[in-house]
Amino acid sequence: MARSSPRVILSAAISLDGKIATRSGDSALSSGVDKKRLHKLRTQVDAILVGKNTILQDNPMLNVRYAKGKSPIRIVLDSLGQTPTNSKIIQTSDEIQTIVAVSEKIPKKNLDKLAKFPLGHAKIKTILLEGGGTTNWDFVNQGLVDQVIVTITPYLVGGKDAKTLVDGDGFAKISKSLRLNLDKIVHQGNEIVLYYS
Ligand SMILES: NC(=O)c1ccc[n+]([C@@H]2O[C@H](COP(=O)([O-])OP(=O)(O)OC[C@H]3O[C@@H](n4cnc5c(N)ncnc54)[C@H](OP(=O)(O)O)[C@@H]3O)[C@@H](O)[C@H]2O)c1
Repeated sequence: MARSSPRVILSAAISLDGKIATRSGDSALSSGVDKKRLHKLRTQVDAILVGKNTILQDNPMLNVRYAKGKSPIRIVLDSLGQTPTNSKIIQTSDEIQTIVAVSEKIPKKNLDKLAKFPLGHAKIKTILLEGGGTTNWDFVNQGLVDQVIVTITPYLVGGKDAKTLVDGDGFAKISKSLRLNLDKIVHQGNEIVLYYS
């Protein structure tokens, strides 16, 4: 696999059947123990990156609360600048550096709205990619993922429309898909955490 710069760690809690949320978008799969593990991991990276839909669906804070340490920079991929200005990450952008990565397609009114907030830029060496499935696919498809850390939670969620760990078009052939090496398995109560690189 081509080496990426910055280093990207794809991280998610998934159901036993590989979903990251139910068909209605409920993604509360993580246990308390897993939240602590994830937040400790967040203290070790420079940035957390998510796609716009994850902000729209979950309105996450994407900070460090269940561990001691500094919150990383938060990055949202959002070509049209539709991240709501009343979302938690925008409302706390004066406390934690936040980047909304837009494209040239952004309507001027959205750019003007977001430009009122102190959104930053920084040198980033390690990114924790925290979904959703569409964004995960784009990174996997472009060979930008260096490590995958998934917590397998004891839920069977089902639903052909429920988001999975990696969505998008997917690879047509197993031989063309991303093949990883299993480095570590951690038993964590009723869950397991898998470390692949
Ligand atoms: N269990 C977990 O650990 C976990 C973690 C995170 C999310 N989730 C769940 O995942 C669901 C959201 O996933 P999703 O697949 O719908 O959306 P997503 O990946 O959160 O967001 C996708 C959107 O991001 C924008 N984007 C901009 N640049 C992109 C790029 N280069 N690559 C990919 N996307 C880019 C696109 O919108 P524009 O075209 O408008 O820019 C795209 O439609 C939610 O239900 C959430 O609860 C679960």
